[in-house]
Amino acid sequence: MARAGGSGTGASGLAGNGDFDLYSPAPEHVELRAAVRGLVEDKIAPMAAEVDQSGEFPQAAYDALRLSGFHAIHIPTEYGGEGGDALAACIVIEEVARGCASSSLIPAVNKLGTMPLLIAGSQELKQRYLPEVASGEAMFSYGLSEREAGSDAAGMKTRAIADGDDWVLNGQKSWITNAGESSYYTVMAVTDPDKGPKGISAFVVHAHDEGFSVGTKERKLGIHGSPTREIIFDNCHIPGDRIIGEPGTGFATAMATLDHTRITIGAQAVGIAQAALDVATSYARQREQFGKPIAAFQGLQFMLADMAMKLEAARQLVYVAAAKSERCDPDLTFFGAAAKCFASDAAMEITTDAVQVLGGAGYTEDWPVERYMRDAKITQIYEGTNQVQRIVMARQLLAGLT
Ligand code: CAA
Repeated sequence: MARAGGSGTGASGLAGNGDFDLYSPAPEHVELRAAVRGLVEDKIAPMAAEVDQSGEFPQAAYDALRLSGFHAIHIPTEYGGEGGDALAACIVIEEVARGCASSSLIPAVNKLGTMPLLIAGSQELKQRYLPEVASGEAMFSYGLSEREAGSDAAGMKTRAIADGDDWVLNGQKSWITNAGESSYYTVMAVTDPDKGPKGISAFVVHAHDEGFSVGTKERKLGIHGSPTREIIFDNCHIPGDRIIGEPGTGFATAMATLDHTRITIGAQAVGIAQAALDVATSYARQREQFGKPIAAFQGLQFMLADMAMKLEAARQLVYVAAAKSERCDPDLTFFGAAAKCFASDAAMEITTDAVQVLGGAGYTEDWPVERYMRDAKITQIYEGTNQVQRIVMARQLLAGLT
């Protein structure tokens, strides 16, 4: 973020007397972090273990986030939102994930579900849906994957067929985060099967549309408080004005959405990893073996140093990617994939090492690190597996777009 008027003490003389880009978050972002952290410590983190145990949607976290405008900070002010930039959204998601990964999917998936509207929706569609998300009356989920079309998203089979002015949807979508809790769903469906990815269109479907239903809750390794279900379309009629953009643009919109939102998964991974490092560091200081704290042993120190180094590298990559998202830079596709991939791989390593630092205690539910490790795993999988992220990065690299 550009800031002007620093005193400039750089020995190189490159920073000295006027405007320059200070490589640090702006004061508003620092204040935002402090505000979210306070809220999370007070209202969200204390419930995290219970949310994980019960598998219930964290309604108390939603209410607390909503009261502070953190449940969907990315919605522009013209639609009644907070107008937070991409870095602000990442800071919110990171801080919430540090306290409760399940709860961090509230702001993350509200952004994922509404990004297609923000990118390609008509003014009328945006005015119709975004204020409800901004006020917290409604949440939005995102429906791209299917049982047989996960990484190969363009291989989807859900059909939308024109019926006069309306569309009729048939098929199913899988792994839909917050399904059952959300009022609205962005759904990608095939409108012209002969055109491959260019025959896919995006629609808004309402939870109460006739012919729409949700499946049973998946039983998962982690993020227990965030329901994941199939969504099913059985002759689901929707009005023609619910199409997002022109027919045939849905796949491009879905991919462009992920360019922006994969960064938020990177932020979630950073938050989970930070929580794991916090516990591991504090435990190593107080746990004694061989007559001294285990933090006094170099083997442990090297582990903690590696964890902190990977975490900070991940955080910086996520923040740079967020800046690129905000500016819609031409290399955003690469950076979105890189930030998500690097941060989630780092989070998996850091949370696994945190369990190791705590030893037997880390493997029990008496400590939160086993939950962090389970929650971290999904960040390597959703919004595109890390194998897909490497495909995306390699294609960008080889096309000379990085
Ligand atoms: N921006 C805009 N348009 C894009 C784009 C982008 N980043 N990437 C692709 N497109 C468009 C282009 O128009 C492209 O056509 P051209 O090549 O003619 O320009 C068209 O889409 C087809 O693109 P590809 O040939 O690259 O498509 P592909 O079939 O080879 O697939 C893929 C590429 C990268 C593997 C893609 O399918 C993919 O990202 N798969 C993973 C899907 C994914 O992330 N799923 C997660 C769902 S969200 C989730 O996890 C749920 C949740 O609730 C959290």
